[in-house]
Parts: sequence; C-alpha cells; structure tokens
Amino acid sequence: MQSITVRTEIPEDERAIDVVHISAFGGEAEAQLVSALRASSSYNRELSLVAELGGRIVGHLLLTRVPLRRSGSEIHVLALGPMSVVPSQSHRGIGSELIEACKRLAREKGYGSIVVMGHPEYYKRFGFVPAKDRQVTCNLPAPEEALTVFEIESGNLAGGGHVEYPEPFIALY
Ligand SMILES: CC(C)(COP(=O)(O)OP(=O)(O)OC[C@H]1O[C@@H](n2cnc3c(N)ncnc32)[C@H](O)[C@@H]1OP(=O)(O)O)[C@@H](O)C(=O)NCCC(=O)NCCS
Repeated sequence: MQSITVRTEIPEDERAIDVVHISAFGGEAEAQLVSALRASSSYNRELSLVAELGGRIVGHLLLTRVPLRRSGSEIHVLALGPMSVVPSQSHRGIGSELIEACKRLAREKGYGSIVVMGHPEYYKRFGFVPAKDRQVTCNLPAPEEALTVFEIESGNLAGGGHVEYPEPFIALY
C-alpha cells in the first residue's frame, strides 16, 4: 500500500488544493475561501499542509493566525480550516494524519491553541473540546456548538476570549 506524506504547501500545489476542496465539499465555496485568503495578508504557506498519496495531492488543511481578544489583552491562536480529503481516499486515516501534523506544526511555531469551526464530532476524536467549555467565542455567524478548541499548551485558553476570524471566513457564512 502507498504511504501518505504530509508536507507544507509549495506554490505549485495551488490548483490541486482547490480541486481537493471542490471534490470533497461538493462546491466551490471552500476553494474560494482559500483563494480569498491567498490574496490577503492572512495566508501563510508555512501553515498550509497537504497530504500526498502516490505523488498526488489528496488532502489539504489550512491554519490561519487569528487574534483571540480578552479584556485588556490579546493572544494569537491558529484557526484550522478549511480541511478536506478527496472522497476516493476518505476513511483511510488521511484526515487524522493532517490533524496530528497540524498539532505538531502549531507547537513548532509556538502557538498555544487551535480553534476550529465545523463538525464537532469529528474534531472531538482528536481531543478538541467545545469552545464554550473554555469561554471562547468567535465572530462567525455559526452555531456555538460548532466551535471547538485544542490547547497545545495546557491552560493557554484560561479566561477565554473572542476569536476574530478575518473577513474571507465571514463571507463563507
Ligand atoms: C472530514 C474529512 C476531512 C475526514 O477525512 P478522512 O481522511 O476520511 O478522515 P479519517 O480517515 O482520518 O477519519 C475518518 C473517520 O472520521 C469520521 N468522520 C468523517 N466525517 C465526520 C463528521 N462530519 N463527523 C464525525 N465523524 C466524521 C468517519 O466516520 C470516519 O470514521 P471511520 O473511518 O471509523 O468510519 C473528509 O471526510 C472530508 O473531507 N469531508 C468533506 C469536507 C469536510 O467536511 N471537512 C471538514 C469540515 S469541518
């Protein structure tokens, strides 16, 4: 069986990443979000992970540095998303590898937490907990139970805070 490689994005990957999101989500919205982020100051290729199988990109996970505001202070955390795996290769652990790789990357880059908006049941498998358990909210007009968080550094979210996603994410909703 071919093995899965997870690595950071290079410029030549852009089209393949778009194709992964379009096929996995069944529409253009998430690929458009990635394009809008690429055109903004929020995009950092070093925080963009691709999964390769047999030389083909079959998965993508994007992390974006976002502020988490508290009364009188601010820290930066990583927002996970979009993330997807092509349907033909799902259920073989590629999504799990991307998430574990993104936790390692977040730690290497010195971030204390990851937040994610989407499918809480999926992210709970990887230790993410409801954001409301940590008094964390965000500026996306989505149900609060869809926001989950993972502390890379224990206690990093103590006291909670409000995550400010950049504009392209808001446009998705
Ligand atoms: C969600 C997704 C990234 C998972 O990728 P994957 O490579 O299949 O993930 P893994 O193989 O590591 O894990 C698969 C497991 O996750 C579970 N899972 C998948 N989507 C889930 C969801 N929305 N909620 C709960 N569990 C989910 C599956 O039941 C599967 O379990 P099983 O293999 O025991 O049946 C992929 O299905 C996908 O791209 N979906 C469409 C886009 C999407 O929803 N992205 C996440 C947005 S928040």
